[in-house]
Amino acid sequence: MNYFREYRRSLNLERYESGREFLIDMKATLSSREIERLKVLKHHMRVGRYQHVLSVSYLSYMLARERGLSYIETARGALLHDLYYYDWTQRDKRPKRHNRLHPSIALKNAESAFELTPLEREIIASHMWPIAQPRPESAEAKIVNRMDKVCSNLEIAYSLFSGKKSSVRFKKEKQ
Ligand SMILES: [Fe+2]
Ligand SMILES: [Fe+2]
Repeated sequence: MNYFREYRRSLNLERYESGREFLIDMKATLSSREIERLKVLKHHMRVGRYQHVLSVSYLSYMLARERGLSYIETARGALLHDLYYYDWTQRDKRPKRHNRLHPSIALKNAESAFELTPLEREIIASHMWPIAQPRPESAEAKIVNRMDKVCSNLEIAYSLFSGKKSSVRFKKEKQ
């Protein structure tokens, strides 16, 4: 899979057939209040948390589907992997051990709002390995763990080098 191409597609999903399929498969989760709340949160520089989970989820969906894995659970776990509602970019607003703690905070939030499968739980809990435990064991959790890092790096690169018109920019007016 071409990560760069799929990452660019994740910024404009309606335009591509695979993106439209993803949006249909994830419709129920994407239209939830819990995911909606992510739209006003910052995440990586100019990229908001909603766009981040959307990109991680879409890339994971494509890779899992290509490999004949459980791509629906992979995408759903990925959509919920950063389901917490504080601004981690501000020291006074985040818990002291944010990097280690936020997977379990996200898991708790996801469990209270959705019916999760064991695989979705594992995906959320292990997405920060090796910074935080546990280590991803399933192929699906390994994919999300890796796509989280791929997308995070691309988001920072796009924030630094993309022009004013780039759709990846975090839209401040939506805050
Ligand atoms: Fe995270
Ligand atoms: Fe993430």
